[in-house]
Amino acid sequence: MSGKTIRLDRLLANLGYGSRREILLLARAGRIRLDGEILRDAEQKIALDPSLAARLSVDGEELDPLPGVVLMMNKPVGVTCSRKESGPLVFSLLPERWRRRDPAISTVGRLDKDTSGLLLLTDNGALLHRIISPRSSTPKTYRATLDRPLRGDEAKIFASGVLMLEGEDKPLLPARMDVWDERTALLTLREGRYHQVRRMFAAVGNHVTALHRISIGALALPGDLAPGEFALLDAEGIARIFRVEPS
Ligand code: URA
Repeated sequence: MSGKTIRLDRLLANLGYGSRREILLLARAGRIRLDGEILRDAEQKIALDPSLAARLSVDGEELDPLPGVVLMMNKPVGVTCSRKESGPLVFSLLPERWRRRDPAISTVGRLDKDTSGLLLLTDNGALLHRIISPRSSTPKTYRATLDRPLRGDEAKIFASGVLMLEGEDKPLLPARMDVWDERTALLTLREGRYHQVRRMFAAVGNHVTALHRISIGALALPGDLAPGEFALLDAEGIARIFRVEPS
C-alpha cells in the first residue's frame, strides 16, 4: 500500500461512510481529522499507508479497517453465507457500515446454514481465490457430531482416496479422520465439495447432527471468539491459513 495516494472522499465513500457529497459535508463540518488536525478539503489526496486507519478519525472514532481486510468469524448456526438460502446472512453480523464497502467483503467459501465455526471473510479477491482455488490444498478441519456411534472403519474408508459420493463421478481425495469420542470425529479435508462432510458420513451409514469448523490451515478458531463474533486477522494470522501443521 505504501507510495499510493487516494482522495479522501473516495477512501471514505469506499469504506461506506457515505456518498462523495456526504463526505464533502462531513469534511466541511470539521468532523474528519488526520493526526488530530481537521481535514476540510474532501478532495485532497492522502497517503494510503497502513498507519492511516489509526491516524484518521471521523467524529472522533478511529477509521474502519483499510481495504485489504481479512476477518475470521465464529459463524453461528442459522445464518447463511449465500442469498440462495433463506435466513439472515452472515454479513448481518458485521457493522452496518462495513456492508457498504467497495470492494465488498465476501465470505471465503461457504459453510452451510446448519454448520458453525471458523469462517473467513475478505475484500481481497486475490487472497480469496488463493484459498478457495481447486489447486489450493489448504486443509480444513471439522468436528462432526454423529447420530450413531462410529463403526471403526470410517478413518480407513475416508483415507482411501476411492470413496465416491452419491451422484459424483470422481472419488474424494484422501481425508484424515480422528476419533474424539464414539459419536464425535475430527475430519480434515483438502477439498470442498457440496455438503462434503455430511455426505461422507452418510456414505458410511451415519448422520451428522452438528458440524463445526475448527481450523483452516494452521489457523484455529480461538476459544474466546463467541458465536457471531469476528476478529481482524493480522499478517501473522493470514500466514497461518497457508501454514500446514505437521500431523
Ligand atoms: N461440509 C458440510 O457438509 N457442510 C459444511 O458447511 C462444510 C463442509
